[in-house]
Amino acid sequence: MQPSAEQIDKNRLPKHIAIIMDGNGRWAEEQGQERLYGHFHGVESVRNIVEGCAELGVQYLTLYAFSTENWDRPEPEVTGLMSLLVDTIHKEVPTLNKNNIRLHVIGNRTMLPQNVDNELQEALEMTAQNTGLNLIMALSYSSRWELVNAVKNIGLDVQSGKINPSEINQDTLQQYLATSAFPDPELMIRTSGEYRISNFLLYQLAYAELYFTNTRWPEFRKVHLYEAILDFQNRERRFGKTGKQVKTSPL
Ligand code: IPE
Ligand code: IPE
Ligand code: MG
Repeated sequence: MQPSAEQIDKNRLPKHIAIIMDGNGRWAEEQGQERLYGHFHGVESVRNIVEGCAELGVQYLTLYAFSTENWDRPEPEVTGLMSLLVDTIHKEVPTLNKNNIRLHVIGNRTMLPQNVDNELQEALEMTAQNTGLNLIMALSYSSRWELVNAVKNIGLDVQSGKINPSEINQDTLQQYLATSAFPDPELMIRTSGEYRISNFLLYQLAYAELYFTNTRWPEFRKVHLYEAILDFQNRERRFGKTGKQVKTSPL
């Protein structure tokens, strides 16, 4: 039987879901097509999953769309992806507004072509008033870039006397991350049968539940999302405690 939204316990939804949308290229090649064809179809999955999360009432959805390392792919693929991005953002803003979805971006925006960044900026501003789902696009993002950036900025603030090194704690570091405004993901999904993190939210995923599926991203739909959430709801999250402790005093 296919999982359905009704089976999900709405009181125990993950607040924040993060997804590594992987497998576009292989999916396309399996269809005898160019890799870009896979990216193109991946956009339909993004629409479907964003809609699915908004319907369920998930508060934060982070989508890994392009990593810092992806800049090293062949030039036609990078250019194709960038133009797909501009196009998609441009087309989707009315739908985001209609569904009360606020767009956020994390990543090294200085590496983005100017037209992509302009389009993004406009979309960020046009959705800034929305109060429903927070859709966080990780674009030109890598966790090591983010952490190095955080350390640099902490260094600058120490130098200027704004913070005292002896007072630096986990909350301080959290405030310097690109994700400072968001809670840590509770569920991380990776599609396409790869079992790695690929430089994604290394710090923030400390206690996330990890879910891997062989489904390629262009074929990932709401039912697959429900499957992942149902799996999440069957896990026992212990945060370093014993099973007995978490059973007697729910977190
Ligand atoms: C994920 O699919 C999308 C991006 C990384 C931009 P891939 O392009 O990595 O597809 P595979 O993993 O090569 O199949
Ligand atoms: C991770 O996928 C990045 C995105 C999905 C945007 P990759 O396809 O780049 O990761 P690796 O190279 O297989 O680790
Ligand atoms: Mg890949």
